[in-house]
Amino acid sequence: MLSQVLEYARSQRERYVEDLLEYLAIPSVSAQPDHARDVKMAALWLADYLRAAGLRAELIATPGHPLVYAEWSGHDHHRPTVLIYGHYDVQPAEPFELWQSDPFQPVVRDGYIYARGASDNKGQHLAHVNAVASYLRCEGTLPVNVKFLLEGEEEIGSPNLGSFIAQHRDLLACDCVMISDGSLRSLTQPVLTYGLRGLAGFEVHVRCLAHDVHSGHYGGNVQNPALALAQILAALKDAAGRVTVPGFYDDVRTLSAEERRSLARIPYSEADLVRETGALAAFGEPEFTISERRGARPTLEVNGMWSGYIGPGSKTIIPATAHAKITCRLVPHQEPMKVIQQVQAAMRAAAPAGVEISFSDERGSPASLIALDAAEVQAAIRAAQHTYGNPPLYELEGGSIPIVHDFQTQLGKPIILLGFGLPEDNIHAPNERFALSCYEKGMEASIRFLAEL
Ligand code: BES
Ligand code: MN
Repeated sequence: MLSQVLEYARSQRERYVEDLLEYLAIPSVSAQPDHARDVKMAALWLADYLRAAGLRAELIATPGHPLVYAEWSGHDHHRPTVLIYGHYDVQPAEPFELWQSDPFQPVVRDGYIYARGASDNKGQHLAHVNAVASYLRCEGTLPVNVKFLLEGEEEIGSPNLGSFIAQHRDLLACDCVMISDGSLRSLTQPVLTYGLRGLAGFEVHVRCLAHDVHSGHYGGNVQNPALALAQILAALKDAAGRVTVPGFYDDVRTLSAEERRSLARIPYSEADLVRETGALAAFGEPEFTISERRGARPTLEVNGMWSGYIGPGSKTIIPATAHAKITCRLVPHQEPMKVIQQVQAAMRAAAPAGVEISFSDERGSPASLIALDAAEVQAAIRAAQHTYGNPPLYELEGGSIPIVHDFQTQLGKPIILLGFGLPEDNIHAPNERFALSCYEKGMEASIRFLAEL
């Protein structure tokens, strides 16, 4: 029976690729108000697709972008239920000029699908939908109950999903939550993620003048906000890469020797890091390894900064203001709002004379740690082993999936984080891609998981 479902999914792979290309052509960029209608279009497309797969599906309105919820109408209370979570929104595609092909005109080149959202996350959750569709086509039934919860605001921090979960615990009742929104180490080496970092972010605004002024007439006599902002930001990290904000590391747990040994088993070198990113060298807290810095240590980063004139040619001004977007990645036990207060206090203290500093857009979500002993997690481990040929490695992920913490506290069921992508998928970057083989293996892993469960 299982082999028939797997065979069916393989036989349909060209159609499944066409379906994904169609889905990827919808520019569902949640962060940009101009794309709000496209986000809605993607939700409608997805609900139709879930219906065609044989599920009951609906859009659920929120104060922001809609949720897509679906379940199998053959729900049988004697069987376990898996809730599959994913997100249909995507990151902005800018800078467009660095893409080899249009981010929203998906193409297949050399075995990869290139498009914004291909790996993060449309390709990965569509693999699950196709797995369910294949089961229903072949067998007319599913081995377990399946619910899908697919949101359109993950890339902006899931501002509305937490309260929805708290208010709809019956609807979302399940035995485990399956999330595929990450990567394998390679096509033969799956990874089970047992921790995600949290996030604490805000914007900083430095003002020195009422308006931009002539840099000849006033230069040398007034403070420059771009330089002041540079000084403020430079004070936040030392030359070795340690965050210097007082109290920043207070709540960070120390890693046990055993956990350090387990993390050291991950085959991830400085050379891998350099190859994936094009960095000149690794940079970070010297007393920790690359895997530890990524998953078990918090960090502070500037995501963007702007001030003055950046158009063609020159403009001799002193700008009135300077701005930056800042996010910290957090590890378990750090509280987002406490960290934001610590960083803002350090920035105020570092501000030179003659500047007015203010903050906005504070937001955050805590990190998560996930136990691996549940039977449902073991089912996923077996499915991964059969699909990829090796048992998964256990990793701490540096990225965030904000809602995982709410799933843990509100539903209290095991979470399974089994990514289908590859580290070189360029998620959030130009030329994002998803390997056709990852898509196919993802469907296989999902089918096997439903059977194992
Ligand atoms: N898919 C990522 C999370 C992720 C990143 C998993 C890297 C594995 C490796 C997710 O879509 C994401 O980007 N999350 C955001 C959340 C933020 C916008 C609140 C992130 O981590 O930046
Ligand atoms: Mn993402």
